[in-house]
Amino acid sequence: MEIIIARDYEEMSKISADIIASQIRKKHDSVLGLATGDTPLGTYKELLRLHREEGLDFSKIKSFNLDEYHGLAPLHPNSYNFFMQEHLFKHINTIPANEFVPQGNTEDPEEFCAWYERKIQEAGGIDLQVLGIGRDGHIAFNEPGSSLASRTRVKALVRKTIEDNARFFSSIDEVPRFAITMGVGTILDARRILLVANGQKKAEVCAQFIEGPVTSQITASALQLHSHVTVVLDEEAASKLQRKDYYNWVRDNKQLVHKKIGR
Ligand code: F6R
Repeated sequence: MEIIIARDYEEMSKISADIIASQIRKKHDSVLGLATGDTPLGTYKELLRLHREEGLDFSKIKSFNLDEYHGLAPLHPNSYNFFMQEHLFKHINTIPANEFVPQGNTEDPEEFCAWYERKIQEAGGIDLQVLGIGRDGHIAFNEPGSSLASRTRVKALVRKTIEDNARFFSSIDEVPRFAITMGVGTILDARRILLVANGQKKAEVCAQFIEGPVTSQITASALQLHSHVTVVLDEEAASKLQRKDYYNWVRDNKQLVHKKIGR
């Protein structure tokens, strides 16, 4: 795993947007995996700027979102579908037919999840998957105990996640108890993975998933099994890492390191 420690949220967002932008410039018809939540908001804002000011072209991009609350219609203001429209899609030139977000109000979740997996395959697989991380170590909505081989399915949310996400709803009772989510196995199939995290509240879990053992109790730790993962953290989220000096040395000597490892 490549660990990049940014000064603050702004720098973290800029670095992650640059990684996404260079993927798009390298391959105009890239398939992106996208996340919602507070963490990537700055990254998406920077992507909008790159689109507006530097002509970053999304017209051939396909995107697949990680997850959606089960039971919410796409136009529900708390749905992840709505979030993506508001914070990204309506400001850039993606083609609506190429923006895939799980449909929360599907009548047949099992059939829908199989279809979603098929669509990802038909698109040629995900080139770059963007992830945030929950305080319980979840990636997408793969809560502790999820199989590390899991595929897209309906998953029950844990109490901590429901509490964390209550801030978006008028009361905690309105937070859906289930979500449709890509599995850990689906995520690990992506060719490259970019995880972003910021803030003190993520410090403990970042140390666990980066430097602790691989365990289904912290599903982000499964990223240790992937060969091309970049983690971009702000100083606070990185504050409990043991090997910070090493990560910073690698970052400061990036050109030398990339020459040696051939990337
Ligand atoms: C969202 C998602 C979640 C979030 C995580 C962190 O699509 O898959 O795993 O990335 O819950 O959320 P924030 O960024 O709000 O702290």
